[in-house]
Amino acid sequence: SATPVKVAVTGAAGNIGYSLLFRIAAGDLFGPDTPVELRLLEITPALKALEGVVMELDDCAFPTLAGVQIGDDAKKVFDGVNHALLVGAKPRGPGMERGDLLKDNGGIFGPQGKALNEVAADDIKVTVTGNPANTNALIAMSNAPDIPNERFTALTRLDHNRALAQLAAKLGVTVSDISQMSIWGNHSATQYPDLFHAQVGGKSAAEAVGDQDWIENTYIPTVAKRGAAIIDARGASSAASAASATIDHARDWQLGTGGKWVSMSVPSDGSYGVTEGIISSFPVTVADGKWSIVQGLEIDDFSRGKIDASVRELVSERDTVKELGLI
Ligand code: NAI
Repeated sequence: SATPVKVAVTGAAGNIGYSLLFRIAAGDLFGPDTPVELRLLEITPALKALEGVVMELDDCAFPTLAGVQIGDDAKKVFDGVNHALLVGAKPRGPGMERGDLLKDNGGIFGPQGKALNEVAADDIKVTVTGNPANTNALIAMSNAPDIPNERFTALTRLDHNRALAQLAAKLGVTVSDISQMSIWGNHSATQYPDLFHAQVGGKSAAEAVGDQDWIENTYIPTVAKRGAAIIDARGASSAASAASATIDHARDWQLGTGGKWVSMSVPSDGSYGVTEGIISSFPVTVADGKWSIVQGLEIDDFSRGKIDASVRELVSERDTVKELGLI
């Protein structure tokens, strides 16, 4: 039988973990013919709860689940892993400054980057879901000098999926009728969901909508603030949808997109004037396990302003973590 793919998940006892682990174990990441071995990292006080989750994984008797290991030592848990889904992060507490948030997360993603650098498999691919995802990915990347930078990415696929769903609802079409969706910039309120390159039934989505005011004042803020709307309604942060997007991202990265555009936050090579080295969202395609930024797009003044604003925020996060000595 096939060699199991080793998938590490951090923050495995958390809310996203509770949805994500079962999807991975059921074969949603690499299909029904590829066994997976789960490597679950948590902080010490959460290990008991994690043991309970593992009991439930056992009880599902998933044929694709080849094994589960848990622990609080990144160097042990990450040993030989092919994919690392870094979900566990320090949330922003009441009254917490952004600098403190970045510093606390540096204390998580710096050591995890170092551990991956030492013990992960040669083909390691890293997906950061834990917020602030883009800058956490930058910290992990900067602490893993022996892993190629392009193996570090952050999740903007949930934003991408939200952008698809909101557009489909507006136009009365299905998400499958939409192509070339893209999210630019940071996974934050400054992100830019781009309807000028998205296509619906062979024409520009912006033209299909035909209402710039709706795009600017309803669509973009609805997509960007969807996380807060879910907390308002559910009393808890989005978890199943975040898990589903994390699966979409890692699966497409491994298996390819067949020419289809998806959004991934990846280390910028300077394309579209996005500061080189920051981890920013772009439209990408994936083939042979490698993502490429879609090239040659025309960026109009409106899009330029939105992309630049989000990039400015990422540059300022980068400057802060640099000053803190985290990168
Ligand atoms: P949660 O608080 O339920 O779970 C987080 C888990 O991480 C906890 O069990 C905690 O013990 C663990 N953890 C903390 N430090 C750790 C460390 N050093 N090593 C291993 N585990 C550690 O949070 P939830 O709802 O599961 O969300 C996780 C993260 O994902 C948050 O940062 C959240 O903001 C982010 N998120 C990102 C989204 C995206 O689209 N990029 C969407 C939704 C959430």
